[in-house]
Amino acid sequence: MQLKPASVVSAVLVLLLSDFLGSDGQFVYNGFSGAQLDLDGMAVVEPDGKLALTNISSQMKGSAFHPAPLRFHEPATKNNGSTAARSFSTTFVFAIVTDFVTVGGNGLAFFIGPSNNLSSASPSQFLGLFNPQNNGNASNRVFAVEIDTILNPEFGDIDSNHVGVDVNGLSSLAAKTAGCFSDDTGEFKNLTLISGDVMQIWVDYDGLARVINVTLGPVEAPRPKRPLISVAVDLSPVLSEAAESYVGLSSSTGPFHTRHYVLGWSFALDGAPVPPLDYAGLPKLPPRPGRVGEDRRSRLREVGIPVITPILALAVAAGVSFFVWRRFFRYAEVREDWEGEFGPHRFVYKDLFHATGGFDDAKHLLGVGGFGRVYKGVLPAPSRTEVAVKVVSHGAKQGMKQFVAEVASIGRLRHRHVVPLLGYCRRKGELLLVYDYMPNGSLDSWLYGAGGDRPLLSWAQRVAAIRGVASGLLYLHEDWEKVVLHRDIKASNVLLDADMSARLGDFGLAKLYDRGADPQTTRVVGTMGYLAPELACTRRVSPATDVFAFGSFVLEVACGRRPVDHGHGHDDNGGRMLLADWVLERCHAGDVAETADPRLEGAYDAEEAAAVLRLGLVCSHPAPAARPTMRQVLQYLDGDAPMPEPAPTYRSFTTQAMMQNADGFDSYVASYPLSSVGASVLSIGRR
Ligand SMILES: *[C@@H]1O[C@H](CO)[C@@H](O)[C@H](O)[C@H]1NC(C)=O
Ligand SMILES: *[C@@H]1O[C@H](CO)[C@@H](O)[C@H](O)[C@H]1NC(C)=O
Ligand SMILES: *[C@@H]1O[C@H](CO)[C@@H](O)[C@H](O)[C@H]1NC(C)=O
Ligand SMILES: *[C@@H]1O[C@H](CO)[C@@H](O)[C@H](O)[C@H]1NC(C)=O
Ligand SMILES: *[C@@H]1O[C@H](CO)[C@@H](O)[C@H](O)[C@H]1NC(C)=O
Ligand SMILES: *[C@@H]1O[C@H](CO)[C@@H](O)[C@H](O)[C@H]1NC(C)=O
Repeated sequence: MQLKPASVVSAVLVLLLSDFLGSDGQFVYNGFSGAQLDLDGMAVVEPDGKLALTNISSQMKGSAFHPAPLRFHEPATKNNGSTAARSFSTTFVFAIVTDFVTVGGNGLAFFIGPSNNLSSASPSQFLGLFNPQNNGNASNRVFAVEIDTILNPEFGDIDSNHVGVDVNGLSSLAAKTAGCFSDDTGEFKNLTLISGDVMQIWVDYDGLARVINVTLGPVEAPRPKRPLISVAVDLSPVLSEAAESYVGLSSSTGPFHTRHYVLGWSFALDGAPVPPLDYAGLPKLPPRPGRVGEDRRSRLREVGIPVITPILALAVAAGVSFFVWRRFFRYAEVREDWEGEFGPHRFVYKDLFHATGGFDDAKHLLGVGGFGRVYKGVLPAPSRTEVAVKVVSHGAKQGMKQFVAEVASIGRLRHRHVVPLLGYCRRKGELLLVYDYMPNGSLDSWLYGAGGDRPLLSWAQRVAAIRGVASGLLYLHEDWEKVVLHRDIKASNVLLDADMSARLGDFGLAKLYDRGADPQTTRVVGTMGYLAPELACTRRVSPATDVFAFGSFVLEVACGRRPVDHGHGHDDNGGRMLLADWVLERCHAGDVAETADPRLEGAYDAEEAAAVLRLGLVCSHPAPAARPTMRQVLQYLDGDAPMPEPAPTYRSFTTQAMMQNADGFDSYVASYPLSSVGASVLSIGRR
């Protein structure tokens, strides 16, 4: 764009104006060209005036501050002795642009805080505002409104598309699914934050009533009258009385390529209306390239075919475009030369498409999780095999060859307690894994779904499942040509076949290494509650980390409770109960059998129950060297060796604390744990 004299003048004017207004507790930015924002992290003002808080780099943060700090408490003399913080209003226009349709992250926030130095804040789920040490600490004195696109159960997030009001930490005082209420009908309309659509948010604080309102809406529509959130919050003790506070915008990325843009922002103190934004003058978003996983059918429909053309031409055009679409898009796959060697494991996308009714969410969807969706399907004749197809978003090209090699390798595993992986297929940005369909679903649906459509699992069935998983894991660890680490053992990844025999499934995270070779240190992935504590510092997966998860699994199955129980009394861990700690406590007290699932009403052999529970404890010992190998575990279970006792010195190990202090733990861990709700659980055959 060429700068014309007039626009230079108006730019200078805007600058002067915003400076002037700034001194009055007001400011307005219609685009950020020439604005003197304090930028930090990866935040940049692009040449056309867009504020890009993040680029697509993973696990980073970016923030922008209005340069002049503001006083949120009037001097007592001026304020008639009141201690109330001043009212304020702010609004900004933003867009979150992702490479994937279904995931982005982590979001952005408007905030007011005592400092313009956020260097100690963490990216990812901490939004560049807090870190694992200071999150929730009242000495932060930070108020924030989060626009959050990842579900973090550790902060009590309601979903992966919400707006929340935060004070001093990321556990929101109030949060609502992103959306707005229609002025006419009062109907609630969802808005998808990561849609890339431009949206506007308004935050209004009434200092006397001590109420925060947050309103969200599409940018083109007038401001909705009814706020999305209206919550009583007293910011008087939060915002510093003595010093000035900084107002800013902050954002961070997790593992998925996401850009967080702010196009305009205005602010006013003392209940004055926010200076209006000049919508026509705001910078524009770049045209959106097709995103990975986007429904090309609807895009084609949008682009459309000129309506006025005669019906015949229309029919021909439709025929041609259908053919083109079918040929190039609908069944498009990515296939590279090196894949030749994996030929037998490669599925044709078209077959999978038809097998799953076109990936029909209504009829074929078995489960959804952080890593993708799972569909049930029947392969075409002659095989007519029932399969579960897992669709995983996969952005990176690098590592694909290795991944496919691993898939092919895992595809050769055959064991009666391992779910067979039949093969894979690749599309742009998507990887499809094809497993044998397990008609009885996941073990956790039986453990926690009992009473509904599933009868309670008997003790004998539980012991059989534990033994089955142990033998499957022994096969992976010791009896196959390579060492396979499963890395995500948990009840939701154990599936029951037609004979109710337990099989270890979901090798999405499995890591293979050649026998004798040193396991590589890798990104920590897995599920909170099943992650061995040493992973926090070494990040080195080993058979012992699988044994730890197996121990958690044993306790889970025997007790019928999740390894980390949220909101169940036992308050020493902030409302979280660690199952292992509790069982250990009972074990030292000599009544470990009483921790077995109470729904069994004692229908088990107390001695056997105690032995199994002790086995779970021994396997999830905090010290890796103290854990048995899977071969020993099988010997214990088969009675070929005496069941070990947890040493009396084995103390409550507060894995949780170790986890929480492990700054920089991969955000997958925090973002997709199976813990309380199970909403983010991915499992095959789960209903
Ligand atoms: C994102 O920003 C950071 C910090 O400015 C920079 O180091 C990185 O190269 C950028 N990444 C991309 C993909 O542009
Ligand atoms: C200020 O305080 C005085 C006495 O404390 C009271 O009479 C007066 O109404 C107050 N004014 C306002 C605006 O609150
Ligand atoms: C920001 O704070 C960190 C410590 O948290 C400090 O090391 C750094 O020097 C500060 N930066 C500035 C610009 O004050
Ligand atoms: C809160 O932060 C302050 C100052 O950093 C620190 O002294 C205090 O121990 C923290 N409180 C908790 C509960 O972590
Ligand atoms: C809006 O989102 C909520 C939560 O994700 C969901 O339960 C609801 O069905 C959605 N409503 C519509 C109309 O899409
Ligand atoms: C907040 O919303 C409520 C309910 O719509 C309204 O009565 C109140 O005036 C609003 N307050 C502010 C500060 O916008």
